[in-house]
Amino acid sequence: MMKLVAIALLVGGCSVVVETCCVPKQWECFYGGQNATFMDGKIDVSATSAMHSFDFVSKKLAFIGQDYKIVQDYNKMMQYTIIQGHCTAVKLAAPIHDCLPASAIVASSLDMGGPDGVVIDVYDVGKIAPEYMYKGTYSVNHDGCIPFSETLMTDGSIFTLAYINITSGIKDPSVFDVPSPPCPKDTDNFVNSLQDQPAPSWPILPSLP
Ligand SMILES: *[C@@H]1O[C@H](CO)[C@@H](O)[C@H](O)[C@H]1NC(C)=O
Ligand SMILES: *[C@@H]1O[C@H](CO)[C@@H](O)[C@H](O)[C@H]1NC(C)=O
Repeated sequence: MMKLVAIALLVGGCSVVVETCCVPKQWECFYGGQNATFMDGKIDVSATSAMHSFDFVSKKLAFIGQDYKIVQDYNKMMQYTIIQGHCTAVKLAAPIHDCLPASAIVASSLDMGGPDGVVIDVYDVGKIAPEYMYKGTYSVNHDGCIPFSETLMTDGSIFTLAYINITSGIKDPSVFDVPSPPCPKDTDNFVNSLQDQPAPSWPILPSLP
């Protein structure tokens, strides 16, 4: 959709133009992942899926699964998880970014899907976010920096994730509604008492510090 152009001034006074990959401001998709873990010589695979809405204008993310809803509000830096009528509110640890760092270099570019297919740019997660808990790859459609897939690895696990059936815009803004009750209405007081709780980190690269 868009490529931001950042101008970096070099010491010598010359300037170079760096293209930065920014995901679309508002989009939705079906989010399907598989986590393969290896322990004691055994492989276990668990699948996860959700409808995922990403709104960088209002700085909110929503994941709606079969029996849960998670809303991340990056204005309040709060995450609400609603499961079976219960709500857990935790403070988000890091702000969200819709652009990869300007220093991000495409590790490889691939033609996928034949002559009428798409060009995929693959980034090395370890290079663009060295402090992130996972190593792996982050792949986007070269045209528009639209998320394609991710591979996230730790010692003993490989998580593969695909962004399926992406549509642009937010069809129904109520996906970001946080029901109160059970969730707290005034989160400002709530935040202090929750500061010690680590926020779950989602395998979505734009939410990285
Ligand atoms: C996959 O499962 C392993 C083992 O439970 C866990 O440590 C890892 O964080 C999971 N990966 C993701 C991306 O959730
Ligand atoms: C993705 O879109 C196709 C074509 O519209 C549809 O048949 C399929 O069910 C959708 N898949 C998911 C997981 O939403």
